[in-house]
Amino acid sequence: MHRQNIREINGFLKGYKHVSEMAGEAIFIHSTHGNIFDVNTIAEKLTGYKRNELLTMNVRQMHTRPGQKVASRALDMIDRTEIKVDFDSHIKRKDGKIIDVRIIGNKFKFKEDFFVIGLVKDTTPYEKNLKRKPESGVVRNVRARSFLNPLGKVYVEPIQVLVELAESRDFYTMEHSAKVANHVMHLANSIKLPKKEVETLKLAAMLHDIGKIGIRTEILMKAGGLTSAEYEEIKRHPLLSVEIIKSIKTVKGLIPTVRHHHENYDGTGYPDGLKDGKIPIGARILALCDVYDALISERAYRRAFSHSDTIKIMKDKKEKKFDPMLLKKFLLYATSQN
Ligand SMILES: [Fe+2]
Ligand SMILES: [Fe+2]
Repeated sequence: MHRQNIREINGFLKGYKHVSEMAGEAIFIHSTHGNIFDVNTIAEKLTGYKRNELLTMNVRQMHTRPGQKVASRALDMIDRTEIKVDFDSHIKRKDGKIIDVRIIGNKFKFKEDFFVIGLVKDTTPYEKNLKRKPESGVVRNVRARSFLNPLGKVYVEPIQVLVELAESRDFYTMEHSAKVANHVMHLANSIKLPKKEVETLKLAAMLHDIGKIGIRTEILMKAGGLTSAEYEEIKRHPLLSVEIIKSIKTVKGLIPTVRHHHENYDGTGYPDGLKDGKIPIGARILALCDVYDALISERAYRRAFSHSDTIKIMKDKKEKKFDPMLLKKFLLYATSQN
């Protein structure tokens, strides 16, 4: 590990740390062997250790004994081959108290070194809301994602860590962005959008809901209906997404698509109430794929709809919500998938 790189990575990750503080979740940046290089203030609160104590530690040390086994296995996997690990464990705080946590580790490359961003969340408040409890003490779902690294690279792009951070707050929307990106790619290709635009759109799909990071978890995970004040808060997320994207130079071109992904074709959407052709084509494509994935997936407040019910709901809303030409194309594609 190059010392200079460690210093630089800390600067590089400043923006991410800011976002993670906003999300209220603990972040650990460490080597693929577990040596900690940086943490945010939430990590200090979660573990009871001060930052300079944590910087001398290895992530393994924080786990209880059975947790240490799982953590070691996860580290081994990420060190050798995997892009991402995701598991449940128990952490022993400095004061001796034991807490249940869920950990998501993403490997990424900076200059010539590999790093891991570990997102650690106290799962106690989430479990109350879940019908399915996460399994304890096992490494679950060791997955590789390839949306932003089609060349078969064995790490995620740092931007994807932000997506993970946003999605991991709500178990029901995990992988939503990746699934939407896949639909978007098919729909955009079917109307023969230029290749470059398809790539931009895919990235916009990955990042469209990233602003949910700034929405309170109780609202995101609420099992019943939302009050109108809560709905207003949810409606802020496209603008929050834009705020985050603005800070990342390379992805500024995505802003219109992300900003308008909740506009309706009849002008009743948000944040700007744009109508038909005024809504950027990318945002019209994204809106369709977004609604489809939301309906066909389980949410905190309802079960998943079947494919045929999803199609029916989308057809019923067609005049109001969607670009009719795109809807037609999308339905052909979605039906061929089922
Ligand atoms: Fe959204
Ligand atoms: Fe979405």
